[in-house]
Amino acid sequence: MYRCQSAHKLVELDARFHLFARFHPHTVVDLAAAPGGFAQVALERMQSAAPQAPSSSPVIEPPPMVIAVDQRPIQPLPGLVTVRGNILQHQQMLQSVQRTLHPTPSRSSAAADVGPPRTVDMVLHDGVSVVKGQHAFSVTYAQNQMALSTLLLASKMFLQFGPAHDKGETRKGNRTEREMKPHTDSPSSSNATTPGNRTAPSAHPTSATLPVCFVSKLLRSLHSAQVVAATSALFRYVSVVKPQASRAESQETYIVAMHFQPHRWQQLVNFERHHGHREAETRERSRSKWMPKRHSLEINPSLFSMPPAVEDCGDARRMVWSCLGCGRTCMGVQPCVQCGAFASASRAGCHRGT
Ligand SMILES: C[S@@+](CC[C@H](N)C(=O)[O-])C[C@H]1O[C@@H](n2cnc3c(N)ncnc32)[C@H](O)[C@@H]1O
Repeated sequence: MYRCQSAHKLVELDARFHLFARFHPHTVVDLAAAPGGFAQVALERMQSAAPQAPSSSPVIEPPPMVIAVDQRPIQPLPGLVTVRGNILQHQQMLQSVQRTLHPTPSRSSAAADVGPPRTVDMVLHDGVSVVKGQHAFSVTYAQNQMALSTLLLASKMFLQFGPAHDKGETRKGNRTEREMKPHTDSPSSSNATTPGNRTAPSAHPTSATLPVCFVSKLLRSLHSAQVVAATSALFRYVSVVKPQASRAESQETYIVAMHFQPHRWQQLVNFERHHGHREAETRERSRSKWMPKRHSLEINPSLFSMPPAVEDCGDARRMVWSCLGCGRTCMGVQPCVQCGAFASASRAGCHRGT
């Protein structure tokens, strides 16, 4: 018996993509996890895959753990570690996860008692945005902005706490991950859309990826294509699915992203380093144009910069929003003066309104 209906959505996503069998996660971070339905499913799947008897393998695997974060309390479960906090505060979240993954050994216990090293192998996000001041925005804008923020947070977690690079075949403990194939869901199938699917190799097909998985809720709207494009820029395989457990009349869908590409993140960092000063020079000129940038075919901060549309706002002129591309607070519905406009539907094979 699950704590809430959401659990059935993760059950469905797992049945479809074999997420737990594919990635064998030891540690899952569940963002916006209360009351704990997703966490129940994750622990159930991980515990049933964990070896029941001591293994003969010299590699000791850590027992399954879900780090569940929410502003609300979550009832305990074996294997569940709860963190009270705001998932939009990345620094705090990273520190909390760091403390949970690598607890300082107490003076009385030996370092070996801390257990085998852990990595974050999967990040789930099923939050319903309840940000202070949100009433100023449409629900779909606030929700997709939250999805974009958790994409960045998950990426930071995979970079800081993720497993080693995956070069075709992954060994985790004594198990070998199945070689993944891109999903070939048909866009015409009743409950699936695949705007971010990569059936062709990415720009750097031989580059290493991290064998990790990110699942996040988004709401179909003007902005969801941007969330899909940003996710597709960072992960090798991306699908967007509406589980049957999700009400048909709701705009809710789930994005499932597999195999994080650290080199794509590095490109983003390099872009900021190389182009940041040029942006400052051209800021005044571009202020009146809001044209796509010259570098729009590359991963760049505009992917993560999502101004509200006029229809998302009560009073568009007074609207204050946070740019996730550069971190600045912006006003109005124009693109961020630093990051520019996201205008690359073709870049990720996406269409606005997906
Ligand atoms: C639909 S519920 C999540 C259900 C959960 N996946 C489950 O299976 O039980 C949405 C949750 O998002 C949480 N939430 C929304 N905004 C948040 C934020 N900024 N930080 C932390 N939690 C947040 C709410 O407190 C709420 O518990």
